[in-house]
Amino acid sequence: MLTSFLKPKVETKLKHEAFFHQLRKDEFGRLDKNNEVYLDYTGGNLTAKSLLEKHFKLLAENTFGNPHSTNPSSQFATKLVEETRKKILDYFNATDYYCVFTQNASAALQIIGESYPFEDDGHYLHCIDNHNSVNGIREYCSQRGGTHQIFSVDLKSLQIDEKDLLTKLDSCTHQNKLLAFPAQSNVSGVKHPLRYIEMAKERGWDVLLDAAAFVPTNTLDLSKFHPDFVSISFYKMFGYPTGIGCLLIKKSAFEKLRKRWFAGGTVYIASSKTPFFSLVDNHERFENGTINYLGIPAVSYGLDFLSAIGMDRLNERVHSLMQYLKLEFEKLSHTNGTQQVQIFGPENRDACGGTMIVNFFNPDGSKIPFFKIEAMTNAKQISIRSGCFCNPGIDEINYDLSPESLETLYHSKQYFSFKEMREALEKMRGAIRISVGLVSNQKDLDALIDLIKTLKDRTLD
Ligand SMILES: Cc1ncc(COP(=O)(O)O)c(C=O)c1O
Repeated sequence: MLTSFLKPKVETKLKHEAFFHQLRKDEFGRLDKNNEVYLDYTGGNLTAKSLLEKHFKLLAENTFGNPHSTNPSSQFATKLVEETRKKILDYFNATDYYCVFTQNASAALQIIGESYPFEDDGHYLHCIDNHNSVNGIREYCSQRGGTHQIFSVDLKSLQIDEKDLLTKLDSCTHQNKLLAFPAQSNVSGVKHPLRYIEMAKERGWDVLLDAAAFVPTNTLDLSKFHPDFVSISFYKMFGYPTGIGCLLIKKSAFEKLRKRWFAGGTVYIASSKTPFFSLVDNHERFENGTINYLGIPAVSYGLDFLSAIGMDRLNERVHSLMQYLKLEFEKLSHTNGTQQVQIFGPENRDACGGTMIVNFFNPDGSKIPFFKIEAMTNAKQISIRSGCFCNPGIDEINYDLSPESLETLYHSKQYFSFKEMREALEKMRGAIRISVGLVSNQKDLDALIDLIKTLKDRTLD
């Protein structure tokens, strides 16, 4: 009785119901028509019908040539690409940044890995809660003779361990030091405080902010926060087009990046007979070859679409959906009192986005293998995601895996199956990820909740 008094009161009424109901009907009618439940927005967003129509019309009615020539079709494509670039910078309030078009967030991160001067007494400090495309930068760092380290998150709340971060920021004596963390975890949904950017910069660090999971439902205002580098994938923001992302580079950090080669489009002049080349001194330096000039104008439509919805409205909507899901999951238990669901991350989810990872349990308290749950959801046309989500750090924390046990395993052989890994570690791995977005509704969440209710008092192993 007392505990229910102490528990924070949770608002479960879904926000902006009428607005998002209409949006779903107008733009995403295929979901209900096909009886589909989509709960994998962190994997990829869905595309509004009008966005596709606008883009196809543009392509069907105009002649696009490869940019950077004086001919009219080329000029037309160049104009749209540059307008989109400007729109992106305006959208993020990024007046003192360059916007480099890339294939996706990973390609943006790869540019940093390749170009950061790790060879000059470099150090890479990255959060344990990072996507593999951020983790992988450590390989560039060590290949160039730099050192690397991770900083941790609180084992229960999965929020950044500030003490560990500050200790590592303060104790680093290297010349070129790069800190990398995600604005929002692609696994737990935790939004990591952006004030760490300034705290690191005050201590002489360069900062790479992976914003891929954050920007689909949050405002990133780069006039308030000043990371040196920001990675983004546009399909995560509005579903279409895939294959386009960007790297935002703060102008003051631009010359610190060392382009290791030259390619078409990245030079003012290059010679074949002499080893001479002169790199372009703006974003084009990092855009190798032909950019996706047919797809890029659709990014402009996508940003207009999100602006019309309004980030505050979307953010509130997503938050209310997650509160509802949390509350409903917490109600689920077997007759013997065992909870059916464990939610990872902070008890208070106010600082979390629309992503949640969970595990489901049998009446005897044993964990239901995630692939059994996924087989059930697949059969019901419910799209969720399971496994480790390209973020091994959070899974290694959740399963309390020691560096020693992981090293023994990973040095034992080069390739092994997921099953072999679990057996060798004598631990289950992975979880279920549910993520909501643009047009998620209560019906979507109830479809999943109702499915889990059918597991009450049953055992799946
Ligand atoms: C936080 C985060 N960073 C980076 C990436 C990589 O994005 P992409 O696969 O589009 O390169 C993802 C993808 O899920 C992500 O969620």
